[in-house]
Amino acid sequence: MIAKRPFGRTGWDVTEISLGCGTHVEDWNAEEERNFSNTVHHALDMGMNFFDTADSYNTEEWLGKALGASRSDVLVSTKVGKFAQGTGHALSYAIPEHVLLCCDASLGRLKTDVIDLYICHLDPPDDVDVFLEAFSRLKQQGKIRHFGASTNKLDVLKAMNRDGDCAACQLDYNMLDRQPEADIFPYCRENGIATIIRRPLDKGILSGRLTADQTFTDWVRKRWNQGAEREAYQRKIAQVEELKDLETPERTLVQAAIQFVLANSDVSCTIPGASRPDRLDDYIGALQTSLSAQDQALIDRVSAPRAF
Ligand SMILES: NC(=O)c1ccc[n+]([C@@H]2O[C@H](COP(=O)([O-])OP(=O)(O)OC[C@H]3O[C@@H](n4cnc5c(N)ncnc54)[C@H](OP(=O)(O)O)[C@@H]3O)[C@@H](O)[C@H]2O)c1
Repeated sequence: MIAKRPFGRTGWDVTEISLGCGTHVEDWNAEEERNFSNTVHHALDMGMNFFDTADSYNTEEWLGKALGASRSDVLVSTKVGKFAQGTGHALSYAIPEHVLLCCDASLGRLKTDVIDLYICHLDPPDDVDVFLEAFSRLKQQGKIRHFGASTNKLDVLKAMNRDGDCAACQLDYNMLDRQPEADIFPYCRENGIATIIRRPLDKGILSGRLTADQTFTDWVRKRWNQGAEREAYQRKIAQVEELKDLETPERTLVQAAIQFVLANSDVSCTIPGASRPDRLDDYIGALQTSLSAQDQALIDRVSAPRAF
């Protein structure tokens, strides 16, 4: 049984471990769709009630198909702002109508009449007013229920919450990146904004299964193969070596990473990604135990908490 947490001031209760659908696939083929669909069905069987995707992930359509009749039992968030960004033919999002069109397209791909949470994917958007105006119109039209921001930057979140109606912030937070403790979390707490924690495993680095000489072919991580991103990757792998002391016969490092995120009461939910169903069993296993004071001290040594 996955516990639910209040989701800001929306009135929703969301499973604290939910599913991120920005799956790290190498090719958008039928086999990957089957894996994805099986993962979504396993998440539903486990009682997960929140699914996060984006119009730039290619999984909106897969998610709509996989949810089928269960759509009405769960909450779905999707994002707008990066459609076709990788093709060189991205939209400018210079007028609200661009966002309105993208919303209609997402509704079609998701096979739904309403998007529960519509998130601005640009960080920052060139023109916040374009998105706020579009979100306001989409709410009036009943096409979205709430809107959110996708950012780790407090000034961007404040701009998106200018009128006090930004429902959620999707942000990075994990054992290697604790900046939100100092800025975004206190702001969200004071303003009733839900927090959705993406990348709780730092895209797999916190599984402890990746190596310093590894290279990547999937669409999300192939940029780690060279340059500054390669150096950052290798630094993190060294930090993870120290965190491996958190592994015990009863707990994997993945589970410790999820426990770390959920131990923070400012977190509304986390959305680890998974390319196959059995990953979810590992994630849910995190709910069986929790971090001790000694574990927390080890994490603080490797990745110091930020001052409030
Ligand atoms: N708003 C944004 O801009 C934004 C950006 C990034 C992500 N997101 C959202 O956040 C969600 C989660 O982010 P994420 O998936 O990038 O990162 P994540 O949840 O930190 O990590 C997921 C990755 O960990 C890997 N993993 C898990 N257990 C493992 C194990 N035992 N051994 C090896 N690898 C393991 C998974 O591998 P497999 O792939 O093999 O299952 C997957 O690639 C996304 O799905 C998306 O919904 C949003």
